[in-house]
Amino acid sequence: IRVVVLYGGRSGEHEVSLKSAASVLGHLDRTRFEVIPVSIDKTGQWQWNDLRTLDQAHAAALPILPDAPEMRLARGPDGRGVLMPITQGAADPIEIDVVFPVIHGPLCEDGTVQGLLELADVAYVGSGVLASAVSMDKDVAKRLAEFAGIPVAPYSVLTRKAYVQDRNSSLAKAVEGLSLPVFVKPCNMGSSVGIHKVKTPDALGAALDDAFRYDVKVLVEQGIDAREIEVAVLEGDTLFASVASELNPNAHHEFYSYEAKYLDPDGARVDLPAKLDAAQMERVRSLATRVFAALECSGFARVDFFLDRKSGEFCFNEINTLPGFTSISMYPKMMEASGVPYGELLTRLVNLALD
Ligand code: DAL
Ligand code: MG
Repeated sequence: IRVVVLYGGRSGEHEVSLKSAASVLGHLDRTRFEVIPVSIDKTGQWQWNDLRTLDQAHAAALPILPDAPEMRLARGPDGRGVLMPITQGAADPIEIDVVFPVIHGPLCEDGTVQGLLELADVAYVGSGVLASAVSMDKDVAKRLAEFAGIPVAPYSVLTRKAYVQDRNSSLAKAVEGLSLPVFVKPCNMGSSVGIHKVKTPDALGAALDDAFRYDVKVLVEQGIDAREIEVAVLEGDTLFASVASELNPNAHHEFYSYEAKYLDPDGARVDLPAKLDAAQMERVRSLATRVFAALECSGFARVDFFLDRKSGEFCFNEINTLPGFTSISMYPKMMEASGVPYGELLTRLVNLALD
């Protein structure tokens, strides 16, 4: 079975994807799958990569090689998906069976690449177009979760258009009904890129200016005194929820930021399993599968919650339909801790895509 591992991508999480994909390449069962690594550079060019070259790199992050031949995904003569070379002198068209998109964020995880794969009639790992799109948009995802009876923290939404037209009234509207601190988040982003914790009124403008660099829609969310709890969900005969984990960013970090995640090796302490009582553990696992179902996800997803220290209630923070697979990422770790080893997890994901 030919598996294309897609990595890189045009989003602000390009570098995270390079790490995720290095880890996935290292754990895919090569006796079962013929692996074809395809990179997407920051301009959006798709390139075919020689697996041996990448294996020799032994890097924690896959490289984007400047001289790798450019390819595009197309429907072959028999209607099956193929990788078509664009570069002169490159290999012949390569027939493929399934694509594993190990890419994160906008134009990767948000239904766009998934739409392309649908058009090319190629099977792919993970959620389809609809679930990918609504899950990427933190506002729409929360609305759907709320509609399914799952608590979310209070928040408001601003558009760039309104913000540019009348910044002062947008600033006022941003915190209407909320109290500081608030979190300012680009609606469609991941890995905490562009997220700010705002503790004083005069810091709000700069936070919004930055968040609007990443998206046309920005979320302003009530900061609550909460613990951060995550659950990995995997599709099977029934939906399987892993044991939950807890992330405790260290005192240098105000929250589980991009820096705490990927740049500071001691950025956060992980409790796996999270220190929850049996009822809390059961509650959060069940909420995770309910979110997965409400958003009509397929294959797998990581669902992130806040556990409000005051009320003791969980609220849905966000869902990741292509969660990180880096060496420090929680999805594969939570699955391992729940009895699904990394290699087997990847095999199951590919097989689900082919079902
Ligand atoms: N968006 C990052 C990759 C994650 O959810 O792990
Ligand atoms: Mg995310």
